[in-house]
Amino acid sequence: SAQDTYLKNIVKFPLGASVNPRMLNENEAYRNIAKEEWTSLTAENHMKMMLIHPAADRFDFTKGDEIVAFAAKTGKRMHGHTLVWHNQVPQWMKDFQGDQQAWEELLKNHIQTVASHYKGKMAGWDVVNESFLDDGSLRPSLWADHIPDYIAKSFQWAHEADPDAILFYNDYGQDGKPKKMQAILDLVSDLKRRGIPIHGLGLQMHINVDSKRNELQEVLDKSVATGLKIHLSELDIAVNPKNNPDFVYEEKVASAQAEQFNFVFKSYMMIPAAQQYGITFWNISDKDSWLRGYFKRPKEYPLLFDDDYKRKPAYNSLLNYLPHA
Ligand code: G3I
Repeated sequence: SAQDTYLKNIVKFPLGASVNPRMLNENEAYRNIAKEEWTSLTAENHMKMMLIHPAADRFDFTKGDEIVAFAAKTGKRMHGHTLVWHNQVPQWMKDFQGDQQAWEELLKNHIQTVASHYKGKMAGWDVVNESFLDDGSLRPSLWADHIPDYIAKSFQWAHEADPDAILFYNDYGQDGKPKKMQAILDLVSDLKRRGIPIHGLGLQMHINVDSKRNELQEVLDKSVATGLKIHLSELDIAVNPKNNPDFVYEEKVASAQAEQFNFVFKSYMMIPAAQQYGITFWNISDKDSWLRGYFKRPKEYPLLFDDDYKRKPAYNSLLNYLPHA
């Protein structure tokens, strides 16, 4: 029956979602999807600085370890997210005072303690997340402000701590933002030229039902041309991006969204197998989506599972479409 057919068995690359340990514990339907539908998992929040490094002299690996244990028990690959970011930084880091050397020691210690703790358990890491603004300039952050060349240094430090991990630069919204895309390509060329280990590009893919396909394709083509591995790292397709309170998720919208999912998967399947690190959805069901929680968009339906943790028509549409793609 259709329920016995899994998307993970149709695609030849790892397929996953970001997860939250509380939901894995408390919600059986959520846990079953995590277990049955995916072959790769990412921690939605619990490996970020704020949660994993709550005080200067204290790391808290409890929740991250829970996710890793679940992944090990259910035979899944783990992807690490994220070692360096401007967001979700603990207060003690924001308050930190020191010269450049002290900042470098702080960041190096953070990266190497986390990467060493999970060494051998992570297939890869988002080493640096979201460093560029839409105009291609370096995003101001604690790291950019205090550590010249922090991106290159972060990759080097991560590689020293876990030489087998596939190291990614991860970012969002490159479609229709040629300067942002170019900044990322320039970063890749610069790191490669200097012999700094970078192995992958994470394209978050927080897109909309009407995101332009030619622009998405261009981002993918340019990313593939770097020769690096490509991870669609946080895929979701918003249907109500303007947060219209009267929005109705009618069939017409749902099928346009399904076609957009088909497009993303088809395009990804065209890239060389050696560059396919996988596709990861951001959250499990519409109900858990960060777009509902974080952006407070109650009428948003961006994923493949509905509020009752049932497969949506978009799931079955992909099942039917992909074998022919
Ligand atoms: O758990 C606390 C709760 O105790 C507190 O009362 C409440 C009040 O603000 O906050 C809760 O923490 C929230 C946390 O999610 C857990 O739900 C944070 O405020 C909130 O900022 C945090 O949002 C996360 C967001 O990153 C932070 O920017 C989202 O869950 C998470 O999905 C999102 O993920 C990011 C990726 O890491 C990077 N790419 C973009 C993506 C979406 O923003």
